[in-house]
Amino acid sequence: MVDEVGQAYDDMAEPYIDLVRTTEVHARDLALIERHLTIRPGTVLDAGCGPGHLTAHLRSLEVDAIGLDVAPRLIDHARATHPVGRYELASIRQLPHPDRSVAAILAWYSLIHVPPDELDAVLVELRRVMNPGGTLVAGFFDGDAIAPFDHKVTTAYFWPVAEFSARLLRAGFTEIERDQRPLNSGTGNRRHAAIAARTTGRGAPGRPALEGPTRIGTGRSEPQSSNSDGTSVDVVVAARQTQPAPADVHRTQRGRCSGPRLVWG
Ligand SMILES: C[S@@+](CC[C@H](N)C(=O)[O-])C[C@H]1O[C@@H](n2cnc3c(N)ncnc32)[C@H](O)[C@@H]1O
Repeated sequence: MVDEVGQAYDDMAEPYIDLVRTTEVHARDLALIERHLTIRPGTVLDAGCGPGHLTAHLRSLEVDAIGLDVAPRLIDHARATHPVGRYELASIRQLPHPDRSVAAILAWYSLIHVPPDELDAVLVELRRVMNPGGTLVAGFFDGDAIAPFDHKVTTAYFWPVAEFSARLLRAGFTEIERDQRPLNSGTGNRRHAAIAARTTGRGAPGRPALEGPTRIGTGRSEPQSSNSDGTSVDVVVAARQTQPAPADVHRTQRGRCSGPRLVWG
């Protein structure tokens, strides 16, 4: 069922697709996405894929990527534009995937419209479908406080990165890398942030997966201990600032990729 946000994107489908066609994903963003989502076998779910450009980009890198979105016209467009890909019309609030069935999830600016008091439940749902040791990469708007703003499509929320990371931890994800781009980094008039996180514990449907002690780290990666099934129990937040990219933008193998920035961001 299409919810309010899906309807809002459906109503704006044409200009949104046009924006995606004419803007480019920041090189730092694309590098972070590739660094974390191309390294392991298994399905990568592009949750809130919009017109499907990042799904297609991951597929061009031999990743078994599936796109999923709640806006029917965006999914129709993705299917028509990338016929070899798989695109699903569904909501991140209720994923049509079994427990522990995907290796990784890309939530690229698709959590920005989730009201803060509903974010935990959505993150737990993402966690539910992920394999032990799976990776989540999320892009969102950085802010000094959790606060709504007038996004061009519908209300979105700024998130302080530390707060977003804490929400991830509560839902069973441990941050492994973060990137915060300053305002003058070339795209739009808002601050952009991204976090890569790894699942912790075994996870279980409908409840947070976190188990075992949690240590907040020092910015250095440290070894993790594991259960026999390979899941981490002793977790470390190892945030690191990515190096400045040599170029502002990056052109993908299949032409332009874009994120929701510039006018819309
Ligand atoms: C800002 S756009 C980002 C699209 C794409 N990831 C990109 O980087 O261009 C947010 C996307 O999330 C989708 N979305 C929002 N809420 C969703 C939900 N509950 N389930 C699935 N997709 C959702 C919207 O339809 C829209 O395509």
